[in-house]
Parts: sequence; structure tokens; C-alpha cells
Amino acid sequence: MTDSLTIRDNRTGAEYEVAIVDGAIKAAELGKIKTSDDDPGLCTYDPGFTNTASCKSAITYIDGDKGILEYRGYPIEQLAEKSTFLEVAYLVVYGELPTKEQYESWVHEITYHTFVHENVKGLMQGFRYDAHPMGMLMASVGALSTFYPDARNIDDADNRHMQIVRMIAKMPTLGAWSFRHAQGKPYVYPDNELSYTENFLAMLFKMSELKFSADPRLVRALDVLLILHADHEQNCSTNAVRSVGSSQVDPYSAVAAGVGALYGPLHGGANEAVLRMLKRIGTVENIPAFIEGVKAGNERLMGFGHRVYKNFDPRAKIIKKACDDVFEVTGVNPLLRVAQELERIALEDEYFVKRKLYPNVDFYSGLIYEALQFPPEMFTVLFAIGRTPGWLAQWQELIMDKEQKIARPKQIYTGDRTLTFVPREERWAE
Ligand code: CMC
Repeated sequence: MTDSLTIRDNRTGAEYEVAIVDGAIKAAELGKIKTSDDDPGLCTYDPGFTNTASCKSAITYIDGDKGILEYRGYPIEQLAEKSTFLEVAYLVVYGELPTKEQYESWVHEITYHTFVHENVKGLMQGFRYDAHPMGMLMASVGALSTFYPDARNIDDADNRHMQIVRMIAKMPTLGAWSFRHAQGKPYVYPDNELSYTENFLAMLFKMSELKFSADPRLVRALDVLLILHADHEQNCSTNAVRSVGSSQVDPYSAVAAGVGALYGPLHGGANEAVLRMLKRIGTVENIPAFIEGVKAGNERLMGFGHRVYKNFDPRAKIIKKACDDVFEVTGVNPLLRVAQELERIALEDEYFVKRKLYPNVDFYSGLIYEALQFPPEMFTVLFAIGRTPGWLAQWQELIMDKEQKIARPKQIYTGDRTLTFVPREERWAE
């Protein structure tokens, strides 16, 4: 068997042999298939990149049919059970689990970069009282590029490390402040004596107490949720980070693009949408009518379906377990019953079975976030904080990949080409 593809162009009768490497052909090879010298050559048409690899990556492996998710070769289930978010962040960014010294130094560095310049605070305070925290996060992380102009020096490995540390460290500060802002509460400065996740909770919820402390089970549940979100190969926001990063802009600007992409309801905004949907359904009795509406195409069952997972989303399984742990502390969220019944009915319904629609990571995460007292508009911010190491790992991989080029897809032009411009005075003359 030869690892190649023979293509016969029936327009010309010409045959082409294209090499197959790693289960892919190079799209540029198709460009050689032409009918004449001035023909630009064949390309593929793939809206949403459903069957186009945009890069080679050694960060995350997903097998959607088998429900497998691995970071750097380690199964997500093991990482969620035994690791910490910062350890996973190191793994995702640097490709290997840290030694003791590396881990301690990494945690120390991140802990001591959690503060932001006071002018960032001023900037955030300028937002309207009801600003969505994702909008505030997107703007403030983008603004960091102006505070660290040296971040433009993307070819320097030490410099990249510095920006990676800064961003992982500062995202919770920016996220927590965008939350406090909407509540009209004073921003809380980081507490470097707390762990990454507990400090985040402190910046969110601390009031007048001298020292904030949270139930360790809740801290752990949140840490696990951050681990589950750390990377997910070439999803919409990572693609945005890579696409913007391919212009060789600084990583703050690239990550701001990722936050923007994540904001959308079909991506990270889904968990917010799930909770609003569950609240609207309200009781188990209303589920059948709701499902009928979904099947009639009136709306989607949010938190269901995935571009890649066609069997189950392994993150959803872990989250279900985290739900139990959290509810043990906070008491059960009454919407859990609605969610469970909705899942049960949908999994038995032919519409969902036929389309391989299963609960995704967002189906239950919203319930946990609500139990942790986050309002729905904060859910995507939590996703963004968790995804930051992944965005940065992918950005760094892109920068170091000699095969990468500035992202510039082709288009198939469908507009007119025969028009002659008529000046306004003539066009508008009676
Ligand atoms: N509810 C009802 N029908 C659905 C749903 C859903 N949630 N998802 C897909 N379908 C149907 C869709 O209508 C289509 O049916 P038909 O073939 O009859 O036209 C079929 O299933 C295939 O859907 P698609 O839109 O072509 O699939 P996609 O791979 O482009 O979309 C998705 C993936 C996640 C955007 C989509 O499943 C969806 O909109 N889900 C709800 C939003 C959601 O939960 N998003 C979170 C994704 S996980 C977190 C993340 O990574 O961001």
C-alpha cells in the first residue's frame, strides 16, 4: 500500500499523486490541480474548518468517538483526580510534569504576579455598572499589552515565559474584579498566602473579614473545573488565539481574541445559556413541551452536542461527580432534578440519539457555578481562566512552529465583477 492519493481531474484528464502524511494531504498540493496556467488551482471549501487541520500539535489529544481527552498524553480523568490546576497548567504549557523545584518555582512565580497595575483597576472602574464581566475581561487582558510592551518580543523564550506567568496569574484578578464591579463592591486585592483557586474565591467573595477561607471541598471542586477546561485542542477560541497570534502580535492581544471567541453562546457562553434554559423550564413537568420545541427546531438544547464528541464528553462525567461533592457542602440545587430528567429524556429520544447528541462539559458546570454563588454571566469568565494555560501553550507552540504562517484562509468569491461605478450625483439624480 502506498501512502498517497491519486486524483484524476475529469476536466482535463490529468492525474496527480498527493502524499498522505499523518492521515492528511497538504491543501497546497490541491492548488497544483488546474485547468490552465491562469487557473488559481483547486482548493477545499470548509466553513467552520470541520475537516481541516490548521496545525500540528502535541498538546491535547481527543478521540471524540471514544470519549477520550488527554493533555500531553495524560488522561483527563487522572489529572482531574490527582493533580492541581497549576500543575496541569505547567504540564500543558511546558509539555512535561514539573519536578518538585520546577513546581515550587512555578507556583511561586504565579502567586507573586497576581497583582495588576493600579491603572488597570482605574480602567476597569470606568466600565458601566452593568458591564458583562466577559467584556471587561476581554478589554482588560487586551489592555495588559500596553502595560508590558516587551511582550512583543515573542521570539525570546524567557520573555514568553514571563508573559505566560503574568497572564495565568492575573486572569483571576481581572475576572474577580469584573464580578465585583457588576456588584458595586470594592475590588479585593490578591492574597499571596492563599492557593491560586482559594485566592480567586477570596477576590470574588471577601467582605470585611480579615482572612478569607473557603471550604476545601469547594476549592477542590473549582480547581477540578479549571483543570477540565485547561485545553481542548483547536476549538473556536484557541483557533482565534492562534489566528491572531499568527500575525506575531503580543500574547495579551491574542488571548483577548480568545476571550472574545469564548464569549459566544455556542462556545464558552453555553454554560450560562444552560442555566438560563433550566430556569426557564423550571419544573420537570415542563420538560416534554420544551423537548418538542427543540425537535421542532425552535431552539437548541443547550449543553448538548459537540463538534468532536459523538459518544460522550469525558469532562461531563467528571463534572457530574464534582456536582455531588459541591452539593454536599451547599445543599442540592433544585434545578439539578430538571437537568437530570432533561438528560434522561434526551438520551432516550430518537432525535438526540440519531444525531449523537450527549451532554457536554457545560451541561452540569453551570449548576456547580451557581451553587458556588456565581451569577450566570460569570460562568464564561471561569471557563476563560481555566482555558488560559491552553491558549498560551497553543500560542507558544505556534510561535515555535517553523511551518506556521500568518492565518489567511481562501474564499470563494460569489459577488459581482461586472459593475462600473456611477458617482452619487448621477445615481441620485431624478
Ligand atoms: N440541540 C438540538 N439540536 C442540536 C443540538 C442541540 N444542542 N446540537 C446539534 N443539534 C442538531 C443540529 O440541529 C443538526 O441537526 P440537523 O442535522 O437535523 O440539521 C445536528 O444536530 C448537527 O448539528 P451541528 O450544528 O451541525 O453540529 P456542530 O458540530 O456544528 O455544532 C455545537 C456543535 C456544540 C455548536 C452544537 O451541538 C450546539 O449548538 N450545542 C449547544 C451549545 C453548546 O452546548 N455548546 C457548548 C459546546 S462544549 C463547550 C465548548 O467547547 O465550547
